[in-house]
Amino acid sequence: MITIIESPSTDHKEDIRSWLQEEYASTYEGFFVNWHVIEPCFAEGKVHCLAVDDRPIAFGMFTRSYISVMEVHPNYRGQGYGKKLAHHLLQVIESLGASEVYVHCAPETSAPFWESIGFSEIKRDGKEIYKRYCFRDSQSSKHRTSF
Ligand SMILES: CC(C)(COP(=O)(O)OP(=O)(O)OC[C@H]1O[C@@H](n2cnc3c(N)ncnc32)[C@H](O)[C@@H]1OP(=O)(O)O)[C@@H](O)C(=O)NCCC(=O)NCCS
Repeated sequence: MITIIESPSTDHKEDIRSWLQEEYASTYEGFFVNWHVIEPCFAEGKVHCLAVDDRPIAFGMFTRSYISVMEVHPNYRGQGYGKKLAHHLLQVIESLGASEVYVHCAPETSAPFWESIGFSEIKRDGKEIYKRYCFRDSQSSKHRTSF
């Protein structure tokens, strides 16, 4: 069963830390290198997860106007989980009063993913790509019908 977990437990957090660490050990990729920044945000309620049978396979970290980090477990990518979690985070951020949400596409390979859910490019600064989602933009609201 697929669920969104808004208050991840210590076990959920450790599961995520563990697969991030494994990913880093085998590929040198993923957000394990940022764990020191991500971990404190669990206690602040700024990390939500998507779980399959209560095992978190994706997590997203957010503020009132940013999705600052989002990652899907490598084995579960390309199956719609990232889209589900991103839509959830957009709903949460909108409920906090935002009219726009920003992402910094790092790695830049994630840029087409954000475009597919209604983000558009606002800035390309060398290899850095920034995208914005407007809640009241007609293009974005078209995508939101699939929440
Ligand atoms: C980027 C990421 C979060 C996407 O999650 P995902 O579960 O693999 O994506 P989904 O299966 O939900 O894909 C949703 C849509 O985005 C598209 N998409 C996803 N990744 C894509 C890519 N690299 N290139 C092109 N399109 C992509 C899918 O085709 C799909 O389109 P559709 O709805 O028209 O079928 C995930 O691949 C990931 O964790 N990557 C590594 C970390 C990362 O880049 N995080 C983003 C930080 S800003």
